[in-house]
Amino acid sequence: MQSKTKIISYQIYDHTDGLTVEQNSVLKSAFLASNTAYAPYSNYQVGAAILLGDGNILCSSNQENASYPCGICAERNVLFYYGSNYKQHKILKLAISTKILNPHLDLPPAPCGLCRQVMVEYERNNKNNIEILLGQPGKTLTIFQSCNDLLPFGFSPEFLQKD
Ligand code: THU
Repeated sequence: MQSKTKIISYQIYDHTDGLTVEQNSVLKSAFLASNTAYAPYSNYQVGAAILLGDGNILCSSNQENASYPCGICAERNVLFYYGSNYKQHKILKLAISTKILNPHLDLPPAPCGLCRQVMVEYERNNKNNIEILLGQPGKTLTIFQSCNDLLPFGFSPEFLQKD
């Protein structure tokens, strides 16, 4: 029997002081994008923004549907839009922000498992780590250096190769 340990490092900022201009602007964009959420069923509004290598920021929000499974999370919405239109540019950062934070929960907004899986594959294709910022401008912010930190042991295309 072998026992192994995986350690994940992440940074917590108590407020927005100390962040770079790029970190501040991608986080702000994600928070503003949460206003565009269509979330009449959950009332949970999420915004996601990605900062590209050319300085552009792309934004999306969650979009729900009366047929619940049709809805899509903010993270996958912005990544699929990036994949369809901007994949010649590197993704530097991905910020995720929610309109309301549960005051009883001392945790950053958490991307769901489906979004983590998609994030990992986009990061793999990106050939550079994507910094993940979770929080709201001016509030506690959690930063991960890679999508893999949010999904250790994720599924990847190698598993599909037979030889
Ligand atoms: N949602 C996101 O957009 N991103 C997340 O990180 C978690 C959940 C959305 C899906 C749904 O519209 C609502 O939040 C409640 O689950």
